[in-house]
Amino acid sequence: MKVSASFLSSQDIVRDLVKLNETDVDYIHVDIMDGKFVKNKTMPFREMKHIYKYTSKRLDVHLMVEDPASYVPLYAGLNTEFITFHVEVDKNIEECLKLIKSYSIKTGLSIKPNTNVRELVPYLPLVDMILVMSVEPGEGGQEFIEETKEKIEEIRTLLDTYQCSAVISVDGGVNDKTKSLCSKADVLVAGSYIINDDNFQEKISSLR
Ligand code: DX5
Ligand code: ZN
Repeated sequence: MKVSASFLSSQDIVRDLVKLNETDVDYIHVDIMDGKFVKNKTMPFREMKHIYKYTSKRLDVHLMVEDPASYVPLYAGLNTEFITFHVEVDKNIEECLKLIKSYSIKTGLSIKPNTNVRELVPYLPLVDMILVMSVEPGEGGQEFIEETKEKIEEIRTLLDTYQCSAVISVDGGVNDKTKSLCSKADVLVAGSYIINDDNFQEKISSLR
């Protein structure tokens, strides 16, 4: 299992990113919120871009925004492996996936807990990752929604049916207890479970 660490709940982002450099975590999960798609808002890119200098890990960018295309060129200029946005946005999804690909960056589509997995189908040929939300997007530290287990299984079946090789990542409320509900996933995103402990590596290892 791969692990992506979210620093959304961090009290000292630079310190925690430096600490994460010393671990074997696979990605740094970057949560971006615009105050419209979700009610919280994260720092603007011009402030955030200084912070990314402190990580040696590849970025797994999660855009919880209404207009993902306007963020793509900014995050494409960093050490980014994935740019993910939501299938619920009222924009041209295919165009935005193609825009991400034009920067040779892997594409991700995220799905909220109450959205039907069929919504993903038209985009599967262009998608490298499905980010399954196991909480309502918008803040860290929430409880894992147990029905996500069935949702991950449904998405696995969908990917097999449509012969899509996208990886499945699960985001929200992931810890050593809830990971057993994610056995069909490929990547686990964890924020508070890792960040709220002194020993980051121990927490990361417990998720693998
Ligand atoms: C929620 C974010 C998550 C969150 C994960 O909207 O997308 O990435 O930060 O944090 P935890 O692991 O604390 O739920
Ligand atoms: Zn996230």
